[in-house]
Amino acid sequence: MKLLVCAILAYLIGSFPTAYIVGKIFFHKNIFEYGSGNVGTTNAYRVFGPFAGTVVLVIDILKGTLGALMPVFFNLDHHWVLFIGIFAVIGHVFSIFLKFRGGKAVATSAGILLAYNPLLFVICFICLATIVYVTSMVSVASLTTVLVFTIATLFMHDWILTTVALIVTIIIYVRHIPNIKRLLKGKENLVPIGLQYKK
Ligand code: G3P
Repeated sequence: MKLLVCAILAYLIGSFPTAYIVGKIFFHKNIFEYGSGNVGTTNAYRVFGPFAGTVVLVIDILKGTLGALMPVFFNLDHHWVLFIGIFAVIGHVFSIFLKFRGGKAVATSAGILLAYNPLLFVICFICLATIVYVTSMVSVASLTTVLVFTIATLFMHDWILTTVALIVTIIIYVRHIPNIKRLLKGKENLVPIGLQYKK
């Protein structure tokens, strides 16, 4: 029963449509109609600028962290953090407040890792930021980081972490199918950061 309540709360927290609300309240724009049309950090940065993008990034990460921490608040075993965090990601991707539309799961998934193991979160964040700086493409950074991380968990002997990382990787890859198609055509959108954008 406690787990069901945790899952529902995590889903509702994950459903909070940060980029949509920031766009509507502060810029009077529907983010679905601008840039890539994605309700996430990258598109908020692209359409509304660095400050709004950073606000969306922080809140979307914290959605994953808060959702994942529900089992801790209910005195359940720490490993439930990972499984319950998946419901926050599902909420972000299929938000009840956006007619079950949503983002691409990266920031909220990172939030789960922050709740579970902050050091791993910092390592992944540095890895992702470095790839963004080199490529100016958040999709490349997201897809690479999550895949390398999932493979790396095989050496950590934490099968729950590996299982959840695999589930999250599948969700992220499915949500990035349009990005992968654009990448294969050499037409992926850049973000105004890093080496490639300056060229
Ligand atoms: O994590 C989202 C990012 O990888 C892609 O976002 O807006 O370029 O499709 P976008």
